[in-house]
Amino acid sequence: MLIVNNLSFSYGEVQALRNINIDVPKEQIVSIMGRNGVGKTTLMKNIVGLLKPSIGTITLENQGIEKLPAHQRIRVGIGYVPQGRMIFPKLTVNENLRIGLFGRQNGKVIPDEILDLFPILQEMHNRMGGDLSGGQQQQLAIARALVTDPKILILDEPTEGIQPNIIQQIGQILTELVKQRNMTILIVEQYLDFVREFCQHFYVMNRGEIVANAETEDLTQEIVKEYLSV
Ligand SMILES: Nc1ncnc2c1ncn2[C@@H]1O[C@H](COP(=O)(O)OP(=O)(O)O)[C@@H](O)[C@H]1O
Ligand SMILES: [Mg+2]
Repeated sequence: MLIVNNLSFSYGEVQALRNINIDVPKEQIVSIMGRNGVGKTTLMKNIVGLLKPSIGTITLENQGIEKLPAHQRIRVGIGYVPQGRMIFPKLTVNENLRIGLFGRQNGKVIPDEILDLFPILQEMHNRMGGDLSGGQQQQLAIARALVTDPKILILDEPTEGIQPNIIQQIGQILTELVKQRNMTILIVEQYLDFVREFCQHFYVMNRGEIVANAETEDLTQEIVKEYLSV
């Protein structure tokens, strides 16, 4: 579904990503793990088009997309939930969702099936985004990305700073999206239990490189100790 091939990126003189290779198969949930500052967010921004790789290709369903600007990548099917959620605090829930309609091919209304996934957003549709709890804001950010009608959903640390019961709900919603709507998901995640429960495959980054990659059942204590524990 999504293939990143030999991608490198530098912030000026500082190389932040080196020879990244990633393969996200259709209808799987694939995680990117690694400690703070190793380049996870930089990689996601390269994939969604907010940063331009210095070398390398990004392929979505056999189409090279690395030259497309971010808004066109949304059109070809990349949905993005950025780290920190980035919802608009002074807009209502409904208005925040409508922002997603700009990325949709021919949509004027928020599809009911998205609201059905997040009953809390329906309940709170006139509240200001900034008045929602962290978990509710995260659900709003995911719903907004779904409004763009993506083939692949890219989430950057969606469980960061969120209560365990909401984390569980988010994992279940992502699983449902895969099973019922054939979604493919790439997720930056530092929470091991989440990866073990909901992801099929993992990649580990360290200092701008992929240093491990396997099925989640093969996520060993050695890998955790060397690259993930703080
Ligand atoms: N806008 C920027 N300009 C320069 N360096 C940056 C910028 N953003 C991030 N970096 C650096 O790039 C590295 C990777 O950052 P980031 O991708 O945010 O890591 P992660 O998401 O894994 O915590 C870090 O060393 C960080 O300081
Ligand atoms: Mg990050």
